[in-house]
Amino acid sequence: MKVLVIGKGGREHALVWKLAQSPRVERVFCAPGNAGTAEDGVNVDIEPTEFDKLVRFAVREGIGLTVVGPEEPLALGIVDFFQKHGLRIFGPTKAAAELESSKVFAKELMHWADIPTADFRVFDHPDPARRYIETRDYPLVVKADGLAGGKGAIVCSTTEEALAAVEHIMVREAFGPAGRRVVIEKRLEGQEVSILAFVSGRAIVPLPPTQDHKAAFDGDQGPNTGGMGAYCPAPIVTPDLMREIETTILVPTVHALKRWRRTFCGVLYAGLMLTNQGPRVLEFNVRFGDPECQPLLMRLKTDLAELLTAAADETLESFAEDRLDWDPRPALCVVLASKGYPGAYQKGRAILGLDVAARLPDVKVFHAGTRRVEGRIVTDGGRVLGVTALGNDLADAKKRAYEAVSRIEFGGMFFRRDIGDKAIALSAPAPPTPQDRSST
Ligand code: AMP
Ligand code: GLY
Repeated sequence: MKVLVIGKGGREHALVWKLAQSPRVERVFCAPGNAGTAEDGVNVDIEPTEFDKLVRFAVREGIGLTVVGPEEPLALGIVDFFQKHGLRIFGPTKAAAELESSKVFAKELMHWADIPTADFRVFDHPDPARRYIETRDYPLVVKADGLAGGKGAIVCSTTEEALAAVEHIMVREAFGPAGRRVVIEKRLEGQEVSILAFVSGRAIVPLPPTQDHKAAFDGDQGPNTGGMGAYCPAPIVTPDLMREIETTILVPTVHALKRWRRTFCGVLYAGLMLTNQGPRVLEFNVRFGDPECQPLLMRLKTDLAELLTAAADETLESFAEDRLDWDPRPALCVVLASKGYPGAYQKGRAILGLDVAARLPDVKVFHAGTRRVEGRIVTDGGRVLGVTALGNDLADAKKRAYEAVSRIEFGGMFFRRDIGDKAIALSAPAPPTPQDRSST
């Protein structure tokens, strides 16, 4: 079978790499791809939103399965379009993808199905939004309804900040029509985790918990990014907690979507805050997380092509019974970014050391923003590489990943040095300090 992956980031490189390992897969194409997907597959020069061209390519090449990486083509209905042409595709329809593309829709569905999430209100005019903010005595988060490239949620500490967020989103229209409506919700405290599951109709196959690092700098400082690193599994999610998340969040969400005639097929990604009162949904995505996808796929032993084909064909139940086969070793991914990201950054800087890093055992360097120019690989995005390693435990995976990072170099390279630290501290509790002892 020939497979087509749509997108050009680290997530898509991981998908191409994993799918190419399947004995059922004869060739993997990636549209448009990056320098890494060109090594593990074949790049096709078509953008993810050029549906006509993609369909023509898929028909011409006899593509047996298309896998969509990013949210934008899903929100624009790529799945409906491919299906209309009789092509097999893994991902949710436009109606089901609204779970990510409209925060108002997601909150209303959660409210209807009693899924734990922060208290919220929806506004389509700035004046009532301002009045609401002025009468709250707790910190708020103001969110643009539509897709805003991961920048649409503004976490506020004061009334002034929340009022400024309404100004930014609704009055100055910083995200265009995506900010016509806003969700204003209570700000929650706790650790964030990403819970992903393969879903097809009623069948749900949860994946091991992962944790992302959204802030740009060490110690969760600086602006929010698409994700600066991730690891899998996340030990903070115990088996009991995972069961609670399945019963109180995943199952009711999938059932509610079906009841609302938006049956889901694809990856359901629940971004959760683990609060003192239990897990609460911050957001839903309808695709693999990036970078969460990299450590996840590094550990997956089950044939991904078989799994995604079964989901697209609505026969995922066969996997739900067997569960999936995972490498018992944890995996950790460190993102190497261009200075300035998530703001403006330079492109076209030569990347050195990729070959040396690739030769290290149990390491895979996934490409995100890279391009091949005259035989050299150069930077071409904010997130450039996702250096991912397996290890005997998380601390070992971290050591191996950073060892590989130390071999790589490009102008303006920056990365976080604390990926995985919270989990490593959790799995190896420090001896009690005098202070701890005196409090017992
Ligand atoms: P979202 O676009 O809804 O995923 O939000 C992006 C990020 O904003 C999340 O990953 C959180 O770090 C933060 N966030 C969103 N909602 C809340 C909330 N209710 N309380 C605290 N932080 C939040
Ligand atoms: N890593 C967060 C996301 O993919 O949305």
